[in-house]
Amino acid sequence: MTATPPDPAAAFKQQAAIKAASLVQDGMAVGLGTGSTAKFVVAELGRRVREEGLRIRAIPTSSVTEKQAKEEGIPLTTFGEQPELDIAIDGADEIEPRTLNLIKGLGGALLWEKIVASAAKQFVVVADASKYVDHLGAKCPLPVEVIPFGWENVARQLGELGAHVTPRRNRDGSFYLTDEKNLIMDCVFGPMMEPEKLGRSILEIVGVVEHGLFLHMACQTITAGPEGIRILT
Ligand code: 5RP
Repeated sequence: MTATPPDPAAAFKQQAAIKAASLVQDGMAVGLGTGSTAKFVVAELGRRVREEGLRIRAIPTSSVTEKQAKEEGIPLTTFGEQPELDIAIDGADEIEPRTLNLIKGLGGALLWEKIVASAAKQFVVVADASKYVDHLGAKCPLPVEVIPFGWENVARQLGELGAHVTPRRNRDGSFYLTDEKNLIMDCVFGPMMEPEKLGRSILEIVGVVEHGLFLHMACQTITAGPEGIRILT
């Protein structure tokens, strides 16, 4: 078995995560993100629940986060009981500092993440400082979640919008499946000048469930890097 190499940004992710978790107050309903940075948020909230008696209820953005939240002793709720969340805290793959627009979904959880973020009064993003870009798409592919039936046609149409499209696969070559048992198409568009227009065009393709452009959703980003913590609103 090969060991996972240590993450050089882990300490920065943890600093940003602890700062963001301090925004959570007693009685709040909280959306819990997915990924290596959000994992530190869930761990810190779990610590506060156990050690400080913080009373929260949470909705996770993936089955992985659900498992971690349960292990941490964080009480979970549902949208049936809790249609609106006070705050959601999640990571990002790219952050455009001018607009706080994001690309998310390299961890495969973009659909539940967008549902949770859109139900939150405050959507706070945590990351290490390497996630800043001048234009979305500069470094990362845009993940697009599509239903398995007819995915080849969806991929072709994403290509017609200008993307180089790769269906995401597991190490053994099988298709990566999301929590909703859908596929992910990783779409390299390059730097996006009109992400709103692109997002609309992607959603017009029949078979697309959601894309990883989170536009005008974040109210605050908290990042940490060699220069310290930076908060943008
Ligand atoms: C998962 C996500 C993650 O928030 C994003 O990939 C960032 O992950 P990390 O904190 O591990 O860099 O969108 O779908």
